[in-house]
Parts: sequence; C-alpha cells; structure tokens
Amino acid sequence: MENYELLLKKYNQEHLLKYIEMTDKKEELIKQIEKINFEQLQDLYSVSKRDNEKAIKGIIIEHVPFVDKYKLDAEKSNNLQTLGEEVIKNGKYAVVTMAGGQGTRLGHDGPKGTFKLNVKPRPKYLFEILAENLQRENEKYNIVIPWYIMTSTENNAKTVSFFEENNYFGYPKDNVTFFNQGNLPLLSEDGKLMVDENYNIKVASDGNGSIYKSMKNEGILLDMKKRGVEWIFIGAVDNAILNMCDPMLLGLTIKDKNEIASKSVVKANPHEKVGVFCKKDSKPAVIEYTELPTEMAEETDEEGELLFGESHIMCNLYSIEALEKIAEQNLPYHSAHKKANYLDENGNLVKSEEPNSYKYEAFIFDGFNYFDNISILRGRREEDFAPIKNKEGVDSPETAIELYNNYWKL
Ligand code: UTP
Repeated sequence: MENYELLLKKYNQEHLLKYIEMTDKKEELIKQIEKINFEQLQDLYSVSKRDNEKAIKGIIIEHVPFVDKYKLDAEKSNNLQTLGEEVIKNGKYAVVTMAGGQGTRLGHDGPKGTFKLNVKPRPKYLFEILAENLQRENEKYNIVIPWYIMTSTENNAKTVSFFEENNYFGYPKDNVTFFNQGNLPLLSEDGKLMVDENYNIKVASDGNGSIYKSMKNEGILLDMKKRGVEWIFIGAVDNAILNMCDPMLLGLTIKDKNEIASKSVVKANPHEKVGVFCKKDSKPAVIEYTELPTEMAEETDEEGELLFGESHIMCNLYSIEALEKIAEQNLPYHSAHKKANYLDENGNLVKSEEPNSYKYEAFIFDGFNYFDNISILRGRREEDFAPIKNKEGVDSPETAIELYNNYWKL
C-alpha cells in the first residue's frame, strides 16, 4: 500500500480515495494529503465539540486595570508622549497589518483591503487609507516606518498585484513587506476532509493568532531585528480610522515596563457584542461576550466605570522579545461552524445554505496569556475605531464612512 493509502486508512479518511480515482490531477491531491498533519486534525476535531461547552468553567476572571488617555493630567500625558515619540523618531518602530481574513460578512469580492470606502473628499480603498495614515506619520517624524502586511495563501497574489497596480499608494516600496499566514483543512460535521471543485483539499486561513508563528517562520522577526526595530504595532485591515502610531500607547508601555499593550475603547453598553479585556487565572486575556456572565458584564467600580468594559479593538503593541516569545508557543485553536461548498463523492458540487463544516482559527489575543501584565490605554471610539465587518447596519461601510468623515472633519 502507498503511504497516502495507509494514512487515509489509519485516520478514517478513506473517502478521499474516490476523489483520487476521479481526478486527472491525482499527483497534486496525493501531495496535499501527504502534507496533512493528521494527528493535529484529530485534536482539532475534538475541539469543535468541546467549544460548545462553557469555555470559562473553572477559570478565575478578574478585572484588568486601564489608563484613560483623556483623564491623564497634562504633565503625565506629555511625559508618555515624549517617551513614545523618542522610539518612533529613532526608527525603532514597525507596523503590521493583518489582512489574511476572508471578510465573509462583508462579502466583498477580493481581499478586504481592496474594498473601496465612499469617504470624502473622494472614495478610498482600505489599504489606501492605511498607507496615507502611515505616510502622515512618516512626514511628522521624518522617517519611513517599515510596514508589514500579512496575507493568506488565498489572497496573497491579489494583494501584492493590487499594491503594484496602485504604485503602493506612494508608500516607499522597499519598506513594504508581504508575508503569508498558515492554512488548516476544514472538516465536515463528521470529521471528514473536504474537497473543492478543483480536487484540492479544502483549506482556510488559520486565524489571526497564527501571525506570531508566521512572523517567525517567514523571517519577519529577523528582518525587523536587522532594521533595529524594537516595538511593533499590529492592527487590523478593516478599521477606517485605525491609529497605528500612538506615542502615548508606546510611552505607557515603556513606563509600565510591560512587553505587551493594547488600545481599547469602552463598550457602547454593558451588553455590546465585543470581547473585553480581563485577567483569566491572573494572566491578561480577552473574554468573548458570549462567555461573560450577565452580572459581570454589568458590574461597575466606585466611579461607575464598567469593570469589564474595555473592548479589544485589534490595536496591539509588542516588544520584539514579546513576539519572539509568543512565536514559540502553540496557541489554542477555536472552531467556527461555517458554510462550505464542496464536491460530493459523485463529483457534484454541493452548495450549502446551512453551516456544514468546521473551520479552525487561532486568535491573536490568546498570545497575551504568556505575560503577567498588559498596559491598556483607553482611547475614544470616534478617534480609534471605525470597523467594517458587515454589509450593512452595525459596523458596516455606512457607519465607518460617517466616523471617517467626522474624524477628518470632512
Ligand atoms: P475578523 O475576525 O473580523 O475576520 O478579522 P474577517 O476575515 O475580516 O471577517 P469575517 O469574520 O470572515 O466576516 C479581524 C482581522 O484579522 C484579520 C482580518 O483580515 C482582520 O484584519 N485576519 C482574520 C487575518 O489576518 N487572518 C485570519 O485568518 C483571520
């Protein structure tokens, strides 16, 4: 028996033999099968079942302190600002944009950064908005901030050619580096590997938490060190007013002698559907709104501030050592029940209207767990957070356009 046949038999995936028979691209499919880590797949499949139970059972959840940027007195504020500016001015700061997501909720055809937002004075692509924001910082400090963009294997080529076609929106090309994140196979509800219409094993990007290992494996951490980078900001592609360069966040982290930090905005109301900062078993973490008990969601301190009110808005800061440390860890995978089209065993394409598969993702905030403390700087929603997640309604292009125009007073 061939190696792949043994593997398929051992791991209960013999249905794939039929697809190998059916396709004229046999070699490719066999190669893909032989690359699969079947042991890991088994663990992942068991996670998809386990996640349905209460994830925080037995874990101690506590409040984590934060600093409100706008409640600091002028002297403290200036000191933090100066501390942070020193780092940026001296070329020790880099920015990473996570652009490997699928953007399924928005439903845009192409990488999310190529979505055009109808802002004033003229419509702009999300990548263009980020490039402009960073250029503004470059001019302010008279430097060029190295910009790294994480793509998926699915959207990498389109992303790179989009930048080429648009002349990098004026950003110095030598300072823009693309790197790929990893993939994981999807599993059907009964734990079987799936095949797409081109007879490839169905895979999907493995979540924004894979950024840590990808930065190590793709040589990004090394490149940063060569350039003398000491602090790294990691943000999402889909925030139209993302502030990638806040010296106060940097200053606060340095003053606190912490290795990781995050910008937050306070929840719009105690039951807003966002993940919030907390400590889980005394380590910094983000707790999902689905996991936070109602009484904790509503709990306030003596000043009336929500104890669990600081939303994680994907504005995270790390020392290079912190990124190196997390890259050595294996972050947990979470499962999502999703719709996936697939080829059935008769070679017919099945388009599912209902979730029929499990996708596995690591989350960026699970990296916080390897530290004792985190600095959290509360900003303001109208200055920091204009997410584009849904086609319409909450966190949609419409709400982001309004926030963008207001922020830039257009
Ligand atoms: P989301 O978790 O909102 O996912 O990503 P998404 O892919 O944009 O949208 P949906 O859920 O499919 O509708 C938050 C940030 O993390 C990045 C996204 O590109 C976005 O900047 N991300 C997400 C990755 O880079 N890789 C991933 O595997 C997932």
